Amino acid sequence: MQQTTALIRGRDEVARGHYRLKLLQADVAAAARAGQFAHVLPRRADVYDPMLRRAFSILAVEGDTFDILFRVEGRGTAELSRRRTGEELDIVAPLGRPFAAVPQRAVLVGGGVGVPPLAMLAAQTRREDGRHRAENIEQNTLRQTNSSHDLIAFVGARSKEELLCLEMFADLQVAARVATDDGSAGLHGRVTELLEAHLAAQAGEKHPTIYACGPLPMLRAVAATCARYNAPCQVSLEENMPCGIGVCNGCVVRAAQAGNDYELYKRICVDGPVMWTHELDWQHAATTRG
Ligand SMILES: Cc1cc2nc3c(=O)[nH]c(=O)nc-3n(C[C@H](O)[C@H](O)[C@H](O)COP(=O)(O)OP(=O)(O)OC[C@H]3O[C@@H](n4cnc5c(N)ncnc54)[C@H](O)[C@@H]3O)c2cc1C
Ligand code: FES
Repeated sequence: MQQTTALIRGRDEVARGHYRLKLLQADVAAAARAGQFAHVLPRRADVYDPMLRRAFSILAVEGDTFDILFRVEGRGTAELSRRRTGEELDIVAPLGRPFAAVPQRAVLVGGGVGVPPLAMLAAQTRREDGRHRAENIEQNTLRQTNSSHDLIAFVGARSKEELLCLEMFADLQVAARVATDDGSAGLHGRVTELLEAHLAAQAGEKHPTIYACGPLPMLRAVAATCARYNAPCQVSLEENMPCGIGVCNGCVVRAAQAGNDYELYKRICVDGPVMWTHELDWQHAATTRG
């Protein structure tokens, strides 16, 4: 983790009000793992408003660059959307606890701007598949070359126009099913319904591990579904983060178990943002964003 500057190499409006920035910063690109985030100062260096950094999941890494994808919501993201190719951003990255290594079978469940860290997880896992295939070919163990991870993605959004990262999943050969709130694409309903149906269809089998990111109500539903089916689940929580480095306690969420008062809360910025669902008290889980 380091405070540094990143040069904006590319800027695309990928959906209405959603921007993808390609940032040149070789150390961050080399170190970043899926689930980690960059803490970005949205403003230019010569102004002081908005004061605080905003957190964005790392979406992709390629060579010396890494990408973030954000939706314009408030002042911070509106300001960031005005930054242009060739400008520099003040960032602290990579931060936070990444997703655990993906076992043979996994389901990715993303809602809205929660999809980017899951696309990164899919890409990272496919890179590992490629490495294993190359090693097996080198060692002449061709019978093992078909051992790619079995991944499926469930992607939810308010409408068809806001479905994110579908091209990335297709390029990675990850089957993606979609759900939209308004029924303009895929299931007319919640992305959690796709997860429920998937787990129900596999009754009696060993369940895959679930990886999820999205708004808190969605994550609460994912946690409840996974608990019902006894499926292991990791979630990435999105919270306003004043410091991002564990100092201010501005990002806490209730823990499932606590040996003492200090352990009653977890700091999402350093204990997360990725956590196992059984680590959290979902009845009392509340963030300032959900
Ligand atoms: C780990 C993580 C990953 C995330 N990944 C993404 C992503 O990939 N894409 C995406 O679009 N969004 C992501 N978010 C959410 C993002 O960080 C912004 O919080 C969100 O977009 C709010 O937008 P804004 O800054 O424009 O809102 P604003 O309206 O500027 O801020 C929202 C409100 O919260 C307050 N606030 C803002 N920041 C802070 C802060 N740091 N501390 C205390 N109060 C604050 C503001 O004062 C305001 O009242 C992520 C958040 C986390 C924690
Ligand atoms: S943001 Fe300050 S402790 Fe987490």
